[in-house]
Amino acid sequence: MIRFENVTKRYRGTKRPALSGVDFEVQRGEFVFLVGASGSGKSSCLQLILREESPTSGRVAVLGRDLKSIANRKVPYFRRSIGSVFQDFRLLPSKTVYQNVAFTLQVTGASRGFIQQAVPEALALVGLSGKEKRLPHELSGGEQQRVAIARAIVNRPQIVLADEPTGNLDPGTSVDIMQLLARINAGGTTVVMATHEAAFVDQMQRRVIELRDGEMVRDEVGGGYGDTSNVPRLEPEAIRGAAATAALQTVREVHRETEAAIAEPVAAPAPADAPRNPRPTASTADDAPPASPPIVVPPVDLAELGVADRLGLDTGDDEEVGPVS
Ligand SMILES: Nc1ncnc2c1ncn2[C@@H]1O[C@H](COP(=O)(O)OP(=O)(O)OP(=O)(O)O)[C@@H](O)[C@H]1O
Ligand SMILES: [Mg+2]
Repeated sequence: MIRFENVTKRYRGTKRPALSGVDFEVQRGEFVFLVGASGSGKSSCLQLILREESPTSGRVAVLGRDLKSIANRKVPYFRRSIGSVFQDFRLLPSKTVYQNVAFTLQVTGASRGFIQQAVPEALALVGLSGKEKRLPHELSGGEQQRVAIARAIVNRPQIVLADEPTGNLDPGTSVDIMQLLARINAGGTTVVMATHEAAFVDQMQRRVIELRDGEMVRDEVGGGYGDTSNVPRLEPEAIRGAAATAALQTVREVHRETEAAIAEPVAAPAPADAPRNPRPTASTADDAPPASPPIVVPPVDLAELGVADRLGLDTGDDEEVGPVS
């Protein structure tokens, strides 16, 4: 779905390459964290995937196409298969929530009927029904990021790229945003997220690609943040404390429930005396102390994901692209 082959990116006027000999492949439906210190090349990777930048050498293929082969005038069409979420939300300040989400569809020439169905679905999925008429400045940071996510998924992209999507949010709100991205991924959308948030990465147990000075130093399935000695770390500070830890715990619970539900739609209820957080497999990394009672998260409603299949959240949607790379 996304493939980097020996990719080097050197920006004009810089001594050191931003990326150097980077090789990886992301499969359809994966959730991948891109981690590393500031300046290690995370945003550069995302820009290459979006064809906002081109590699100095090597090859980037996305959705089965070598990006070099896409003519400039076709790039906007290519980008419709990719939703983007940024740290600073990038909403249109004078447009309402509804208009911000609808705008993406309007510029791509979607029919009015489709817009009228898809926008409310996307807003419902991110939990913003009822706030359609608000302007961005009338929303909290977390709500603004939800609008940005609704905008990113409304066009049914196969891939969502998120560059530090929780960077401007407090820990509790960040957890909500992570849950949302996890749900979107659970519906089959490939998610690549650049982040500094070691705590999330540790808790989510997803694939981690780590960059250091432009070189890929780790590619680990279900890894944590790894050697964080020179990476700013979200420590369990007193101010963030137990509530954040407990909330992070729920992210994994949502994952487990989702995975269990997908694997086995009619899951037997756990016996009453079963441990509250049974572990699906033996995991030495799972040593976070059970903090205060976990925040109750409604089980992932697969029916809701089904309703949103027009947003590309189902798994059987392959139409507009060639072979998956
Ligand atoms: N347009 C540009 N022109 C010149 N150098 C750039 C450009 N964009 C990025 N760089 C350089 O490339 C390197 C990688 O930058 P990049 O933005 O990819 O890092 P990052 O991992 O996203 O960092 P951060 O965590 O701070 O966002 C840095 O040394 C940066 O200064
Ligand atoms: Mg960056």
